[in-house]
Amino acid sequence: MADSAAISKPVILTGAQPTGRLHLGNYLGAVRNWSAMQNDYECYFFVTNQHAITLPKVPAELRKNTYSCLAQYMACGLDPEKSHLFVQSHVYGHNELAWVLSCICPLGQLERMTQFKDKAKKQISVNSGLLFYPVLMAADILLYNAHVVPVGEDQKQHLELTRDLAEKFNATYSPTFNVPEPYIGKAGARVMSLQNPNSKMSKSDPNQLGTVDLIDTADVIRKKIMSAVTDSEGSIRVDAENKPGVTNLISIYSAITEKSVAAIEDEFAGKGYGDFKKTVADAIIAVLDPVRQRYDELIKNQGYLDEVLKAGAEAAQKTAWKTLSKVYRKVGFPERAR
Ligand code: TYM
Repeated sequence: MADSAAISKPVILTGAQPTGRLHLGNYLGAVRNWSAMQNDYECYFFVTNQHAITLPKVPAELRKNTYSCLAQYMACGLDPEKSHLFVQSHVYGHNELAWVLSCICPLGQLERMTQFKDKAKKQISVNSGLLFYPVLMAADILLYNAHVVPVGEDQKQHLELTRDLAEKFNATYSPTFNVPEPYIGKAGARVMSLQNPNSKMSKSDPNQLGTVDLIDTADVIRKKIMSAVTDSEGSIRVDAENKPGVTNLISIYSAITEKSVAAIEDEFAGKGYGDFKKTVADAIIAVLDPVRQRYDELIKNQGYLDEVLKAGAEAAQKTAWKTLSKVYRKVGFPERAR
């Protein structure tokens, strides 16, 4: 398993919620970039199960999805020999630091968070965890003193809050935290729903045709791409306002193949949506089919997944204790006698 003592590289930390299967947006906007960073950074990749319960969950499903999320990470190339892979609830310190940060975080700043407002709108009764969510996220990041946090575009505002809280803590108590930088990839940072291309692709979308899941079979991927919403104009070109569906498919194809938008528009000049969608589906399948095959192997071996989580939590806990004791000392909590 990854040996943190031997490494003195800049730190990255990031994670995803185990709220079901990861989708193409999570892959292109996030996990694919994480996997490419493992040689250059000390990496903490975690499953954010404490964030997940801000919306109601069936306990048995949450437990199952936690393992599934880890297996999907690993199938995408996150390697426990190089990186620390763990589950949030296995490490003490996230919530303790979140409490300290909440005491310097203005309430108004939380109430203005776009994701809070969006999620709150959809709830009959809004729990305080939903409001507090970004403070816990800031604690996740600062607990490991991350330098860089690779995320999709939708997490940018949460990163801004994290930076504000780090600066505020440093100014109030003395320099303690790195002020982390977001890393948002150029391509794939905001993949949109295939059925409603004005909304982002999301795990909670009730229309299953709107998302391509990482572990969908080739047939299912093809069906979803072929039924993606387009428009009646018939030309394959980017126009986010008038042709959001086609624009989304072009961005997906560009993120996967690394071809420029101009090259893609040239490639498909004079061709129809059917041909274009077939090519996009083939490109996605070529990338995701090996991921699904690796996933199918990994998910059968819960013993191995448990070993990975145990080693990951042990390494993460060491760093977490170190940061938390420093923070407690600075805010004036006496050390516990040993
Ligand atoms: P989550 O689980 O919603 O998403 C995981 C990652 O996938 C990115 N992402 C997308 N990228 C492109 N297009 C999309 N349609 C799309 N949907 C999601 C997200 O930006 C994210 O990078 N709050 C976080 C989890 C979290 C976290 C953290 C992340 C908790 N603590 C600390 C980083 C650091 C979340 O809900 O991600």
